Amino acid sequence: VAAEKGGYDHFMLKEIYEQPKALRDTMASRLGEQEVILQEFKLSAEEVKDLHKVFIVACGTAWHAGLVGKTLIERWARIPVEVDIASEFRYRSPLIDKHTMVVVISQSGETADTLAALREAKKLGARVVAVTNVVGSSVSREAHDVIYTWAGPEIAVASTKAYTTQLEGMVLLGLYLAQARGTMSPEKIGQVITALKEIPTQAQEVLEQAKDIEDFAQSFVDVEDTFFIGRSLDWNVAMEGALKLKEISYIHAEAYAAGELKHGTLALITEQTPVIAIATQMDVYDKTVSNVKEVKARDAKVIGITFQGNKDLAKSVDHVIYLPKTVVELAPILTVIPLQLLSYYVSVARGCDVDKPRNLAKSVTVE
Ligand code: G6P
Repeated sequence: VAAEKGGYDHFMLKEIYEQPKALRDTMASRLGEQEVILQEFKLSAEEVKDLHKVFIVACGTAWHAGLVGKTLIERWARIPVEVDIASEFRYRSPLIDKHTMVVVISQSGETADTLAALREAKKLGARVVAVTNVVGSSVSREAHDVIYTWAGPEIAVASTKAYTTQLEGMVLLGLYLAQARGTMSPEKIGQVITALKEIPTQAQEVLEQAKDIEDFAQSFVDVEDTFFIGRSLDWNVAMEGALKLKEISYIHAEAYAAGELKHGTLALITEQTPVIAIATQMDVYDKTVSNVKEVKARDAKVIGITFQGNKDLAKSVDHVIYLPKTVVELAPILTVIPLQLLSYYVSVARGCDVDKPRNLAKSVTVE
């Protein structure tokens, strides 16, 4: 087993470090200069133009990737998107017809609720696209189209490289739909593609900050509650960061839309509640910073995450993690990496079973 971990103490850490390669492999041969090529996709441009609606359906971490996918597809391809937890989708009579695309996201391709949702969507006449990491999995066999993430086997229960490659899958799908529908110029598509090609190297740069993150992770050892806040895509990543911490360190963590805090949750913020504040989405940056000031005024210890160059955040928080600059839609891929590392080091410091947290399974094949 030690050999399988490739010199790392845990599979989770190994998989966190495999992200630059996983991200590179997932985009390989899918990017032209100003064009996304999804060879496995059989849907014609005419059929894409005919879509009225998209549902994204998944569980757990994959659902969090779907939340980011919604913003990207709506912003780029101008199609309304709903995101559903698979176990909810099936029982709420979703409004689906042949002009609906249902995207199921599943690392394993075997999650019972996701598979059942896929079957329900097919029965209702939707075009079903699977985003999955396992070739030949049930989901990949039953969907009409498949976009594989090429993350390689993920062993740790807490998902890391599967999530970042699912985010990349959402970027590819969003651009592909936009290009087919003509809602984005080739120049604009080219700009995102150029930025995407930089992401693996930038992910490596973020990983180089691991020692810093390991150091302040020690201050979380006795924490009982913590909040992750952000707006827009930052909020979606906050949800994934909170899930990681809960899963492997058993600390109660909650993600909140930063602007919603003052409608109740702010009452829970004390100097005992560290807050992780994400501020990469520049259209809402100032708003997020003012929310950060609200929690800081309640004496919370705040760790900020933002792009290099956003120097003013440092004035409102106790510690800042800087990310290399990219286009805002790609930021989630980089933002989650320090959150994964934070959870990992907190879990280790608390003596938890990092790779096999209590009560959880890698793949849930019961409903
Ligand atoms: C389990 C795993 C999670 C995963 C979820 C969905 O709960 O512990 O890490 O996100 O299932 O799994 P899937 O294989 O469908 O992505």
